[in-house]
Amino acid sequence: MGRARPRRSSRPPGLRPLTELRGVAEGGRGRVAESAELMVRTIPRSGEVLPAVGLGTWRTFDVGADAAQRAGPKAVLRLFAQAGARVVDSSPMYGSAEAVVGDLTGELGLAGRLFLATKVWIQGREQGIRQMEESLRRLRTTCIDLMQVHNLLDWTVHLRTLQAWKERGRIRYIGVTHYSQSAYPELERAILTGDVDFLQVNYSLTSTAAERRLLPLAQERRVAVLINRPFEGGALLTRLRGRPLPPWAAEIDCSSWAQLLLKFVLSHPAVTCATPATDKPGHMRDDLEAGCGRQPDAAMRARMMQCLDLI
Ligand SMILES: NC(=O)c1ccc[n+]([C@@H]2O[C@H](COP(=O)([O-])OP(=O)(O)OC[C@H]3O[C@@H](n4cnc5c(N)ncnc54)[C@H](OP(=O)(O)O)[C@@H]3O)[C@@H](O)[C@H]2O)c1
Repeated sequence: MGRARPRRSSRPPGLRPLTELRGVAEGGRGRVAESAELMVRTIPRSGEVLPAVGLGTWRTFDVGADAAQRAGPKAVLRLFAQAGARVVDSSPMYGSAEAVVGDLTGELGLAGRLFLATKVWIQGREQGIRQMEESLRRLRTTCIDLMQVHNLLDWTVHLRTLQAWKERGRIRYIGVTHYSQSAYPELERAILTGDVDFLQVNYSLTSTAAERRLLPLAQERRVAVLINRPFEGGALLTRLRGRPLPPWAAEIDCSSWAQLLLKFVLSHPAVTCATPATDKPGHMRDDLEAGCGRQPDAAMRARMMQCLDLI
């Protein structure tokens, strides 16, 4: 039970498996998963392959220009890229985060290596265009991999612009996002337009409502899925702190609660990538390890739900 085989990554040459990154991250304690290669998933509409563990930037990368404040995010991004991970999610809503990602990408020599996802978060066509131009500048790129309508704000207007930008090669994929169950019916409407390549939505061990209709719809419509708030903004890990892991966690190569929570999310068949946020390289390494080793099967997922009693 609980031993679904992970898909191995086709790691580009020069990148290092997690086993070799043990010394790089602070606090790299715990057992290294059996398979030290990051699991990958396929974007349904293109066949492009993406590592299943990504990186969110809300709060953690909103650190401004100060070099000392940027040290944590820089170490996180370095480790992330060394492990072969690629998906970084940002937004103009996240203060300086886009600019920090852009600057650090340049400093670390990662231009062209990451899958950059950001958002448009404003009312109005012209305002949206101006905001997206600014995102291109801040992220220091001429093409953003994934442009998402943040929290569905004015989404019918922005989708038209996004289609035109996609045709011109300024973005590669179109997405819509939300973090709340109340928005699921509208997310469904956006998917049903047929114009959306990616859905980004909240999903965690304690927030499973997306399983009912939204995630199956995404699968049916061949829409890739990014997961936000896999730790409920960190609250789940706070509540589980100090609790021993269940003994069966070893069957799926989990050595921390963060890995267990992420493996739950990643093992849903609709999920392409989860984007946990952190500014601590030790936590980044922990999160990346969730994308390695044995993954839960359906029976193990049912077992994992029993952890709700602890939360
Ligand atoms: N509507 C939207 O589009 C939307 C909404 C919400 C979120 N998002 C995206 O999704 C991303 C993730 O969501 P989130 O930032 O709200 O919350 P989250 O990823 O569920 O939780 C982040 C928190 O978990 C902690 N953490 C991460 N890894 C850990 C580990 N291994 N051990 C212990 N603590 C750990 C972090 O603290 P430390 O920094 O101390 O590690 C941070 O406080 C966002 O950053 C954003 O990019 C999008």
